[in-house]
Amino acid sequence: MRIIIEPDYEAISRKAAQIVADRIRKKPDIVLGLATGSTPLGMYQELIRMHKEESLDFSKVVTFNLDEYWGLPSSHPQSYHYFMWNNLFSHVNITSERVHIPSGTVNDVEAYCSWYEDKIKKAGGIDLQILGIGRDGHIGFNEPGSSLGSRTRMKTLTPETVEDNARFFENKDEVPKFAITMGGGSIMEAKECLLLASGKNKAETVQRCIEGPICAECTSSILQLHPKVIAILDEEASQKLRRKEYYKYVEKMALKFKKS
Ligand code: GLP
Repeated sequence: MRIIIEPDYEAISRKAAQIVADRIRKKPDIVLGLATGSTPLGMYQELIRMHKEESLDFSKVVTFNLDEYWGLPSSHPQSYHYFMWNNLFSHVNITSERVHIPSGTVNDVEAYCSWYEDKIKKAGGIDLQILGIGRDGHIGFNEPGSSLGSRTRMKTLTPETVEDNARFFENKDEVPKFAITMGGGSIMEAKECLLLASGKNKAETVQRCIEGPICAECTSSILQLHPKVIAILDEEASQKLRRKEYYKYVEKMALKFKKS
């Protein structure tokens, strides 16, 4: 895993956007896996800026989102549909037929989830998957105890996740208790993953994800088995990494190597 440590949230957002933009420029019809949450917001803002000021072209890009709350219609301001259109898609030149976000209102969840997986496959698989990390170590909504080989399905959210997400809702009782999420197995099929984390309240989780044992108790730890992951962390999120200085040294050496 490549670990990039930047001073603060603004810097991780810029770095992540540079990587995404680079991959889009190299492959204009790239298939992106996208994430919600507050962490990727700065990166989305920077991508919008790049679209407007540097002609970053989204016209051929295809996207698949990781997850959606169960029970929220796409028009609900806290749905991930709403989030993605509001924070990215409406501001760039992408058309709705290239955007895929799991539905939180289908009747036959099982059939829908296998249709979603199939859609990803038919698009050629995800080239670059953006990931945030939940306080309990989840990626997508793969809560502790999720099978690390799981596929897209319905998950019951942990009380911690419900509590963490309550800040976006008017009252805690409104927070959905279930979500449809791509599984650990689905995420691992992405050709490359970009994991973002910011702030000291993520520091312990980040340490477990990157340096802890690979286990269902911290589903993001499965990324240790992925051949191509870049983790972009700010100083605060990286403060509990045991080998933090080594990771910084590796990046410094890589830079020297590229220059020579
Ligand atoms: C939710 C999302 C995750 C996200 C996590 C962290 O649980 N399903 O994809 O990574 O929140 O959110 P934040 O970035 O706001 O800390």
